[in-house]
Amino acid sequence: MANKLSPIAPEWLKVPGDINSIDAKVWPANVKRDSNGELLVAGVTVDELANQFGTPLYVYDQDDFMARAEGIKIALQDAAARIGTTAKVYYASKAFLCTEIVSWVDQLGLSIDVASGGELAAALAGGIDPARIGLHGNNKSLTEIGRAVAAGVGAIVVDSEIEIERIASVAGAQDKVQAVRLRINTGVHANTHDFLATAREDQKFGIPIADAPALVAKIRADRHLKFLGLHQHVGSQIFSSDGFIESTRRLIALHAQLLSGGDIPELNIGGGFGINYKPADNAPSVAKVAFAITDAVAAECSRLGIKVPALAFEPGRALVGNAGITIYNVGTIKDVKITDGAEPATRKYVSVDGGMSDNARPALYEAEYHTVLASRTSKAVPSLSRVVGKHCESGDIVVLHDYLPADVSPNDLLAVAATGAYCYSLSSNYNWLTRPPVVAVQNGQARLIVRGETEADLFARDVRYQAAHAGSASRNEKG
Ligand code: LLP
Repeated sequence: MANKLSPIAPEWLKVPGDINSIDAKVWPANVKRDSNGELLVAGVTVDELANQFGTPLYVYDQDDFMARAEGIKIALQDAAARIGTTAKVYYASKAFLCTEIVSWVDQLGLSIDVASGGELAAALAGGIDPARIGLHGNNKSLTEIGRAVAAGVGAIVVDSEIEIERIASVAGAQDKVQAVRLRINTGVHANTHDFLATAREDQKFGIPIADAPALVAKIRADRHLKFLGLHQHVGSQIFSSDGFIESTRRLIALHAQLLSGGDIPELNIGGGFGINYKPADNAPSVAKVAFAITDAVAAECSRLGIKVPALAFEPGRALVGNAGITIYNVGTIKDVKITDGAEPATRKYVSVDGGMSDNARPALYEAEYHTVLASRTSKAVPSLSRVVGKHCESGDIVVLHDYLPADVSPNDLLAVAATGAYCYSLSSNYNWLTRPPVVAVQNGQARLIVRGETEADLFARDVRYQAAHAGSASRNEKG
């Protein structure tokens, strides 16, 4: 293949015309190179960021997030308005959550979806109106339900029959009426990685369509519950509208059937809109997918002769994924000869100072990422590379396949694109690495929004260590 420099490069990986280029498809809007060739994030160079906050470092382009999230909100609302209804847009906070982003979401007038007591606590602490919070989860504890009802969350999504009684009893004890949705497993498997597909039969989420009428009757019969409507979430990182459309049709047929028992104000279509992780990706715009979905909603409602309900969506990744990047420092480098393929090949293994603890997605889903040399440009030839972490696992990979300049060297900084969703939130302390800090950059100013963990944070939970050091100030290597 003319566009392959190496026999082990995947077909989709094009040899970059310019190895230093910054593809707007994957990078935040305010990431560019300065006149020295160094990467700038909203006016701050990666060197400045690394010097001030250390590496690895999660960096969010705040204006990019605001514009992206606003654009998606408007696209979903427009798609709904076209068919004579409204759309409530929840930010799925599992993608990335801290109180700062809750305040951004709040400023944008978005609602927020939380999936645990911890996420609920963070959303509440971020100051959003509890009425704009929706609580999910397939195994909410009574304590979590109690906190949500007491806070006055706008909706709780029922995921199993037993939760109906649990939510009703908690609401009864607090003398409240709690609005609930019922999550349906429509059996549709959206076209994505198997582990990311949540609406097919053989999985833990939701209620089969056939079982829904009895459960809805139970909800309606309880004076401490109010039935808001049905909910689905067909999967994540979805590019094709087909799965959304098929699942939504099934949901509307059920919605229509249930109307005989009373009004149903809303229909929640879930999240899952895919994004570009690498230049070879071609994610459709959220507007395009949303229009396809609302066209199907309108057609199905008209066929069944029912009123179009108010819609709700729950995108996470699409709002925040491309707004965040990770900066790493390069440590060791190896040109590994591979002789067991059809042709001998070499892959450059570039080790960085983080890895699967700050980005678990390649190890979990074989997710692909894109990287560039960030602290300088290079005139060297492109070299097929794999960016790996510092953990004791061969699957500890940050960027599976990409080209980096052949002269990439220790102490260079690399930037990895589209790490804004499900990287910080899936991070761990594997090998006792401390979780990196998170900064937001705007108009030439970098602001710490989540401080990095220290070893003292890790020792703070180690009981024997704490007992041995009782009374003395705990050690903190980073001061
Ligand atoms: N609503 C519900 C009920 C969900 O379970 C999810 C994601 C979303 C909305 C948001 O989906 P999004 O728009 O972000 O695709 N850890 C995986 C993704 C798991 C998603 C789980 N649920 C990853 O890193 O790709």
